[in-house]
Amino acid sequence: MTRPTPRVRKAVVPAAGLGTRFLPATKATPKEMLPLVDKPAIQYVVEEAVAAGLDDVLMVTGRGKRALEDHFDRNAELEAVLSGKGDTARLDLVRAATDLATVHYVRQGDPRGLGHAVLCAAPHVGDEPFAVLLGDDLIDPADPLLPFMTGLRDELGGSVIALLDVGAGHIHRYGCAAVEPGDREGVVRVTDLVEKPEPGRAPSSLAVIGRYVLDPAVFEVLAKTGPGRGGEIQLTDALRTMARDPRIGGPVHAVVFTGRRYDTGDRGEYLRATVRLACRREDIGPEFRAWLRHFATAELAG
Ligand code: UTP
Repeated sequence: MTRPTPRVRKAVVPAAGLGTRFLPATKATPKEMLPLVDKPAIQYVVEEAVAAGLDDVLMVTGRGKRALEDHFDRNAELEAVLSGKGDTARLDLVRAATDLATVHYVRQGDPRGLGHAVLCAAPHVGDEPFAVLLGDDLIDPADPLLPFMTGLRDELGGSVIALLDVGAGHIHRYGCAAVEPGDREGVVRVTDLVEKPEPGRAPSSLAVIGRYVLDPAVFEVLAKTGPGRGGEIQLTDALRTMARDPRIGGPVHAVVFTGRRYDTGDRGEYLRATVRLACRREDIGPEFRAWLRHFATAELAG
């Protein structure tokens, strides 16, 4: 009798990268702590995991990332001051990050690549499927993706990744997937993967983005995966091994995401995400939109 496959309960959030594209801001501040309006990027990511029913969160951190732990921890002094002033609105905001989920931490030591960061999660995750949400990758809360991915894993087994069509001109900056059509709208079967393909040699314009639902077999594969592009242990390389041989951890399917996603480690995308989220806010949105309209017509047009 086959064992029923366990459902996805745990989320792993790698946040140990150096964030060199955002220097000097990230010299002493983790890039995941940069705010989008008034909330650090990492909090949106943890909120997304919780909204998808994953309330066991393991964050992979490293040197200089203490602020991440502090953000999800209690700040008794600040709470006492706010409570003394009767400022319950801000008190709620401060407590929200702490009450969100049980956040566990593991340190990566040296940032040897995303694949290595995921491997650091093995003792915590054990032998069950799990989600990976990159700490600097923001999926617009209005376009939920993760619940669809965990649902697919429940149904099809194996692993599920997320792809975004970035166009042929940009694919050389991403992990790229070769795919064949699946049985349902928006879902494809991944047959091969290549990290940052040379221009003109990409199998598609479908880029791997920072949401994964992985079979635990990935840990064994990662343990055997040597350094790849950039001298780093690449998650894409391990997934390629699995995509090419479904006997290892089952098939790899992908959701072709058509919603909005921002790489908050990239300055331009960070700014675009900030503007979009600010426009949508009930409190500051109306005034900000009016200013933006004026800025676009009066200052940019000229
Ligand atoms: P990036 O590719 O964005 O790398 O990592 P980076 O080093 O953080 O940033 P840049 O390119 O120097 O600006 C993608 C995700 O993987 C995590 C990062 O924290 C980010 O969430 N990561 C990367 C690790 O946790 N460990 C690593 O060794 C590398």
